[in-house]
Amino acid sequence: MTADTDAGSAPGGAATAGIDGILAEGRLAGLSPAALAEEFGTPLFVYDLDLIGRRVEALRSVLPHGFRIAFAVKANPSLAVVAHLRRCGVGADVASGGELETVLRAGFEPAAVAMTGPGKRDAELAAAVEAGIGFITVESPGELGRLQAIAAAAGKRQKILLRLAVAEDARLETVRIIGGVEGKFGMPLQTLVETARATSASEHVELLGIHAFGASNLRDAEQLVGHVADLVDIGRRVAAETGTQLRLVDAGGGLGIPYCDGELPLDLARLGRRLGELRASWDSDADLRQMEVILEPGRFLVGPAGAYVARVVDVKGPDSAPVAILDGGINHVLRPALIQSEHRLAVLATDGLRAMVHATVAGPLCTGLDVFTTDAMLPRPRAGDLMAVLDTGAYGFTESMPFFLSHPTAAEVGVRAGKARLIRPRIMPTELLDRQIDPDW
Ligand SMILES: Cc1ncc(COP(=O)(O)O)c(C=O)c1O
Repeated sequence: MTADTDAGSAPGGAATAGIDGILAEGRLAGLSPAALAEEFGTPLFVYDLDLIGRRVEALRSVLPHGFRIAFAVKANPSLAVVAHLRRCGVGADVASGGELETVLRAGFEPAAVAMTGPGKRDAELAAAVEAGIGFITVESPGELGRLQAIAAAAGKRQKILLRLAVAEDARLETVRIIGGVEGKFGMPLQTLVETARATSASEHVELLGIHAFGASNLRDAEQLVGHVADLVDIGRRVAAETGTQLRLVDAGGGLGIPYCDGELPLDLARLGRRLGELRASWDSDADLRQMEVILEPGRFLVGPAGAYVARVVDVKGPDSAPVAILDGGINHVLRPALIQSEHRLAVLATDGLRAMVHATVAGPLCTGLDVFTTDAMLPRPRAGDLMAVLDTGAYGFTESMPFFLSHPTAAEVGVRAGKARLIRPRIMPTELLDRQIDPDW
C-alpha cells in the first residue's frame, strides 16, 4: 500500500482536512487583511485559533492510546494562544519560570504541565515543585541534587524524567541518540543510568522514565517514529539496569511543517499508523503495557496558524527587480535570518493586475541581515501594500529581537469564529524608555 492510498483511509483522514494554513483566497483566517491592518495597525501577528484547534485534533486523532500531547509553550507563549490550547485539551511543556507562570495563568491544571530545559534556576525548580506540576525533566546529576534539596525543603516528592543527550545540531535533521557525548542538553547514557540509580532511594523524587528531543522540524514520519522506538528501547534498558519501571517516555517535539512551496507536510496518517504498530508491540509486552508516551509539539500545532503582516514603506530599485522595505523585519521575525530559512511571502490586497517580478523584501533595521528574501516571485510591490510572512505562528514573536532599533513591537491578534481580537497590544518605545534610568552621574 502506498502512502497516498493510506492517507484516505487512515484514522484522522477527515480530521486532517483544512489544516494547511491561515491564508486562503487572499484572506487571513477568513478576514480581510486590509480590515485587520486598519483596526490593529501594522506590523501585527494574526493567529487563527480555529486552525490551531483543527491541527490539535488532526494530530490527536491519529495517535494510538497511551500517547499524550503537551504543547511546547516556547513556540508561542502568547497567553490567549496558550489558553486556547488548554481548551483544546492538550497539556503544556514549559522551559522557564516565565512559561510556568504563563500556563498557570492560562488555567492549566498543574498536573498537565511538564518542565524541561537546560539551566533551570533554583527559583524556577522551586516554583514548579510548589505548583505541583506533572513532572520535571532533569538534565544533569547536579540538577537532580538541587531538585532533591528543593523538594525536601518543600516537603514534597516530585515526579521526574531524566533527559538523554541527542545530536545537538538540529539542522542536521537527523535523529541520533548519542550514547557518550557530554553536551548542553541532557546526559550521556552512562551518566543517565548512574543518575537513575541515585534516584531509587530518594524520598523526594520519583523517576517515571526518560526524555529526549530528537531533531527540529522533521516532516518524515519514519524519522519521528524511529526516534520514539529508539527512546523506548533505551528507556527499557535503563529500567532493567536500574531495577526501575518505565512508566513514561517523553519524545520531545520536532514534528515539522513545510516552509517553502513544494515541501510536503508531515504524513499524519503514516505517523499514526506506524506509532499504532509500535503501541501494539508494547501492548503485548508486560514491561511496556502501562507505559505512556508524551509528544511535545510546538511548531506543528501553531506554526501554520500564524502570519506576520507588515506594510510596505518604500519600494526602490528597477521595476523588474524591486526592493520592498517593510515596517518590520527581524526585530519581529528573526527566524529566517537566524537559521537562514526563508518563509513564504504573500503580497496581500493587491488589485490583481500587477506583473510578477523577482523581488527583494527587507525590514527597516540597519543591518544587512534584516532581509526576508532576495528573490521571491511576487506581484510587483508598491508602497502601502500589505505583505504577509507566512508560517510565523511558531518561533515568530517569541524568537525575535524586539529591542534592536527601538521600533514598536508587533501587535498580536487572535481570530476565532471569524472575530478578531487584540491579544497583545504593541509595546511602544516610550514604554520601554519609561522603565529606564539615567542616574545623571
Ligand atoms: C524540550 C523541547 N520540547 C519541545 C520542543 C518543541 O519543538 P517543536 O516546536 O519543533 O515541536 C522543543 C524545541 O526546542 C524543546 O526543546
